[in-house]
Amino acid sequence: MITKPIFIFSLLFFLSFILNQNIICYAQEPPSITGYTCNPEQFNPCQTYVLYRARAPEFLDLASIGDLFSVSRLMIANPSNISNPNTTLVNDQPLFIPITCSCNNINTTFGSISYAGFNYSFKSGDTMYGVSTSKFQNLTTYQSVEAVNPTVVPENIDIGQAIKFPIFCKCPNTTSSQNQPRLLITYVFQPNDNISSIASRFRVTPQSITQINGNNTKILDTLFIPLSNLPNLTQPTSSNTPPPPPTPSAPVNQEKDRKGTVIGLAIGLGVCGVLLILVLGLFYKEKTGKKEGYGDVERQKSLYLGSKKGSFVDKDVEVNLLADVSECLDKYKMYKMEQIWEATDGFDEGCLIQGSVYKGTIDGEVFAIKKMKWNAREELKILQKVNHGNLVKLEGFCIDPKEANCFLVYEYVENGSLHSWIHGEKPEKLSWKTRLRIATDVANGLLYIHEHTRPRVVHKDIKTSNILLDSNMRAKVANFGLAKSGCNAITMHIVGTQGYIAPEYLTDGIVSTKMDVFSFGVVLLELVSGKEAIDDEGKVLWANIGDFSEGSEERKVRKLQEWMDGSLLREELIMESVVNVMSVAISCLNKDPSKRPGMIEIVYALSKSIDLFTDVSEEGLSPRQVTAR
Ligand SMILES: *[C@@H]1O[C@H](CO)[C@@H](O)[C@H](O)[C@H]1NC(C)=O
Ligand SMILES: *[C@@H]1O[C@H](CO)[C@@H](O)[C@H](O)[C@H]1NC(C)=O
Ligand SMILES: *[C@@H]1O[C@H](CO)[C@@H](O)[C@H](O)[C@H]1NC(C)=O
Ligand SMILES: *[C@@H]1O[C@H](CO)[C@@H](O)[C@H](O)[C@H]1NC(C)=O
Ligand SMILES: *[C@@H]1O[C@H](CO)[C@@H](O)[C@H](O)[C@H]1NC(C)=O
Ligand SMILES: *[C@@H]1O[C@H](CO)[C@@H](O)[C@H](O)[C@H]1NC(C)=O
Ligand SMILES: *[C@@H]1O[C@H](CO)[C@@H](O)[C@H](O)[C@H]1NC(C)=O
Ligand SMILES: *[C@@H]1O[C@H](CO)[C@@H](O)[C@H](O)[C@H]1NC(C)=O
Ligand SMILES: *[C@@H]1O[C@H](CO)[C@@H](O)[C@H](O)[C@H]1NC(C)=O
Repeated sequence: MITKPIFIFSLLFFLSFILNQNIICYAQEPPSITGYTCNPEQFNPCQTYVLYRARAPEFLDLASIGDLFSVSRLMIANPSNISNPNTTLVNDQPLFIPITCSCNNINTTFGSISYAGFNYSFKSGDTMYGVSTSKFQNLTTYQSVEAVNPTVVPENIDIGQAIKFPIFCKCPNTTSSQNQPRLLITYVFQPNDNISSIASRFRVTPQSITQINGNNTKILDTLFIPLSNLPNLTQPTSSNTPPPPPTPSAPVNQEKDRKGTVIGLAIGLGVCGVLLILVLGLFYKEKTGKKEGYGDVERQKSLYLGSKKGSFVDKDVEVNLLADVSECLDKYKMYKMEQIWEATDGFDEGCLIQGSVYKGTIDGEVFAIKKMKWNAREELKILQKVNHGNLVKLEGFCIDPKEANCFLVYEYVENGSLHSWIHGEKPEKLSWKTRLRIATDVANGLLYIHEHTRPRVVHKDIKTSNILLDSNMRAKVANFGLAKSGCNAITMHIVGTQGYIAPEYLTDGIVSTKMDVFSFGVVLLELVSGKEAIDDEGKVLWANIGDFSEGSEERKVRKLQEWMDGSLLREELIMESVVNVMSVAISCLNKDPSKRPGMIEIVYALSKSIDLFTDVSEEGLSPRQVTAR
């Protein structure tokens, strides 16, 4: 990836050398992806501007743009020749936004880069990549966002967390005083730009631009335009002109500048020219996307798109599917259909784990691959927000446009579902301590999605077959396929699993975190009793729990012992702990959702039950240990 451009650069250099200055060569180093280095000792912070374009839907008024850049509307309106700061902008309308540029040290090895930092508060669906490329319009790169936020884990940014976005900028040299421009405006090279068109827009010479930016700037690179004064922008006249102007720019001064034509230069140069075009083509192919290092996803995406010469329909579907998940693209690996096919031996029965979930090996690593029709969007959106040890981790996905299928690639959880452990498929029985640990793990996973995601996430389908156990018998909640973000919503379409569904959801369709609490109560009953949530006659397990809260303490304990999983009675167990768990379960199963405890209280209550075991060794957790009793 790195050697190829270097090779091409040297080839170009060589070519230009033979052609003896007839063409402009590309010998400059490629533009920086992590920012522009500066020397803190020689750097004088300066006031400068970026050229920003109003863009639908979010940024069509000065207030929202001002919020993004922490400036007032007037501070944008004045330099941008907008008389009424309340005006509605049109798409692509150019604006000058004032920024203060300074030289900032990242660390000793990395050095310093010049930028203007803006705090951005993460919203649902945001990623570093998405915010850099769309909201900040490539005035920065996600790599530099990562560099200036060294303590932030990009995959794990909370909603509302403030992330610093470094907007690239430069200040004129103060040391070498001769012929210095007064201002260096930050400008992102647009797809229909060329150096001469930019130069004429800003009324400068193309040479003055290439002097600072080099001769090989490309689309979406950052350019610094040297100016002595801010040019006057011509703005669309009325606030309610619907059609966006084709070229929203300063008056174009049609001065032809032959020397400055930088792109499209190889015409008429015969064989060498053809060669150059070939090489340039190669170069552009290598660099679809922006600056190199924009990640595997972009590359895989283009490779995958390129490899499928499907019909227009396929393409359209795929583009839609990709647009749907575009905000997730930088977080996940994107697999190719061929990889998924190979991993699962062509969806061989032998690889089937359960339902539409296959076990597959990609590059030597084992994953669980779930095939679904294109309704993974919710699940992807939710999983992108959640990252917790007690939730199954999504590693990547794959889109098959032909069938409109989506494959979600998850971490493989070795020991299968809790359902298979409790209800018989496994020869060993779980010890009480292991069951308690599993209950606490699930409660912690739910606590996280209920309390630590914004908006809150309701799983909606908690059941023993959606709880997976890893090699250490620690539990992870899986299958966010039905999950909903947002609370107290009402749904018409009832989903979920019989035996686990909370009564208020069944009757009124009310969705709240308390419906997960109810289902969790059912899981606790299964852990205690070893019985299925719904029996062969369709009777739900929770139907007669009232029985356990009647009568004397002795009677309650006796009732419980009769009902409990027989295998538990064979181990030395502290009955008090079982009684505790049972009372948690009963409170979870209250018919009135408002009377059910929250996950915090549940985690606390369960941890008290675990405390009763503190003297027991950790080994009690392994499944083998269980049969030894
Ligand atoms: C802009 O709107 C504010 C209130 O929304 C108003 O006070 C102000 O006068 C308006 N300014 C102009 C120039 O219309
Ligand atoms: C950004 O946030 C940091 C820390 O939260 C704070 O020190 C800094 O002043 C903020 N900058 C701006 C421009 O609000
Ligand atoms: C920023 O760059 C990315 C790719 O490098 C591109 O997809 C996106 O459209 C660009 N954003 C803008 C506002 O031009
Ligand atoms: C310096 O910062 C860069 C970019 O964030 C990082 O990759 C590198 O590990 C850091 N080095 C040290 C010594 O902290
Ligand atoms: C400022 O001067 C240094 C060397 O003195 C040079 O490397 C740098 O490119 C100059 N910056 C500008 C904006 O002209
Ligand atoms: C860019 O090309 C021009 C014209 O050939 C040349 O004079 C100039 O030195 C080049 N600039 C850089 C920075 O390579
Ligand atoms: C911009 O307009 C002002 C008058 O509003 C004029 O004085 C100035 O010369 C103009 N600047 C340019 C670069 O045309
Ligand atoms: C400001 O924009 C208006 C159009 O809205 C244009 O007529 C005027 O010439 C511009 N002012 C300057 C100084 O360029
Ligand atoms: C630059 O773009 C303008 C229009 O935007 C076009 O007329 C001109 O031919 C282009 N020049 C080159 C060298 O491509």
